[in-house]
Amino acid sequence: MRILVINGPNLNLLGRREPAIYGSGTLEELERGLRDKYPEVSFRFFQSNHEGAIVDEIQSAPDIADGIVINPAAYTHTSIAILDALKAVGLPAVEVHLSDILSRESFRQHSFISAACLATITGKHFRGYEEAVELLIKTLS
Ligand code: DQA
Repeated sequence: MRILVINGPNLNLLGRREPAIYGSGTLEELERGLRDKYPEVSFRFFQSNHEGAIVDEIQSAPDIADGIVINPAAYTHTSIAILDALKAVGLPAVEVHLSDILSRESFRQHSFISAACLATITGKHFRGYEEAVELLIKTLS
């Protein structure tokens, strides 16, 4: 099974960025943890600070992945383009947020992306990505 894990803007700074909200683990540690925990999954990891690059990656996903885990970061709250790309490719996708966006500022409480996802997992930090992978494994098996 092939899973594409997409992380959006500023998530390259994980570990240094507002650790009280996002935790002290780095993006590299997150990715290595998933590889180690799910050796049966072939992962591709992609991070970008650019909306169009994320759209391009989603458009190419059907050639390289069976499912998508996505933390669109701030684009969650603004990007109809990412929503449309996920709908266009139609792969099963799970949305993840490290923090609990529903208990934060009002502008973080709406996600454009949820409408294209099987589930949205929030506030569980790195564990949320594991739950997303497990949900995709269950869905795709
Ligand atoms: C985030 C929540 C977003 O509101 C924020 O812009 C992020 C990270 C999260 O993982 O909690 O960059 O997606």
